[in-house]
Amino acid sequence: MLIKIKRSFPPQSPIFARKLSRMMQAEDFIAADSPTNADSGVINCEAPSNIALVKYWGKTDVQIPANPSVSFTLRHSKTVTTLYYRFIENPSPKVSFDLIFEGNPNEAFKPKIQKFFELAEAYVPFVKHYHFEIHTHNTFPHSSGIASSASGMGALAFGLMQLEKKLNPQLSESFLNQKASFLARLGSGSACRSIEGPLVVWGKHAYIKESSDLFGVKPEIEIHPVFLDYQDTILLIDIGEKTVSSSQGHQLMQGHPFAEKRFTQANENLLKLLIAMETGDLDQFIKITESEALTLHAMMMTSQPYFILMKPETLQVIEKVWAFRKQSTVPLCFTLDAGANVHMLYPKANKKSVMDFIQKELLIFCRNNAFIDDEVGSGAKLL
Ligand code: PMV
Repeated sequence: MLIKIKRSFPPQSPIFARKLSRMMQAEDFIAADSPTNADSGVINCEAPSNIALVKYWGKTDVQIPANPSVSFTLRHSKTVTTLYYRFIENPSPKVSFDLIFEGNPNEAFKPKIQKFFELAEAYVPFVKHYHFEIHTHNTFPHSSGIASSASGMGALAFGLMQLEKKLNPQLSESFLNQKASFLARLGSGSACRSIEGPLVVWGKHAYIKESSDLFGVKPEIEIHPVFLDYQDTILLIDIGEKTVSSSQGHQLMQGHPFAEKRFTQANENLLKLLIAMETGDLDQFIKITESEALTLHAMMMTSQPYFILMKPETLQVIEKVWAFRKQSTVPLCFTLDAGANVHMLYPKANKKSVMDFIQKELLIFCRNNAFIDDEVGSGAKLL
């Protein structure tokens, strides 16, 4: 039986996160530069996307978040990556790799991966001794408006850690996951929350012991069962390229008139949300989650230059969700990413009524009636 802890806000005692023997620093992740026992081989793995409940928006280099965030790890929206590695006698100055996306060589995505390798190389120096052929595909449609950077970087980082494990078999699973999260962050900040699940905190928080700006951690709360199989049905409203990228958006938080208040608010919301998720307080969960989504977009609308990523249909869906919740008392709420799509979050027990509602009233707002039916998952894995 789950013992419900009634925590006060702010809590008297800190919330803990799963920890290694001591708090890890960036230097602790530097591997030896001596590949000897892995000539060539293949690693097949996958990592899911994640959806933030408390949003990360604003950073300093390199993907050091301005505020802590927390996300649900997804289950079905994922990137599958096969990493063929071949030892090369003379290490090249740049990591050598080919990229095959959905079965075809892809030059367009290569610079992002090249940049990732440049940042990651200091921590996985053995990569220079290999040529990689990276085969990758997503389980969700390309240009569905679902960012593949979190799952893609998560899968690549996780794959590299499987190679490091071959070179150094005594590495523990918790170290591998933590370093995979650390590496994934270098590729795309939110990717560090895709290695484990169901709930990952990223960013230093005064009340969450072991939380770190460098990697994601699982908060050691006893998550109320209602959240363990939470559903996320993603309504695909706009499937085009975003007009403003996340990187540009993060930068616009520097000198933003509301930045400091926003960062303080995110710290408070994170703690309140974890307490709500421990006690099963759905009202509070809904209040914080929806407020976080709207605040993220409010930051965009009040940046200089300002921009809007929501579409008219996004607002129509939100109005409908509020009306449905009022009249049905089903605890359905929404969240938004940096885009127009709407994530519908709800307990599994309410699946039928929410899906009926989506079919009847919301599909008209989706491009080609498209949606992705997802739910909370457990993170990256070897296949
Ligand atoms: O990881 P990035 O740089 O793509 O930024 C992600 C930002 C949001 O998705 C809007 C929020 C979040 O915490 O995931």
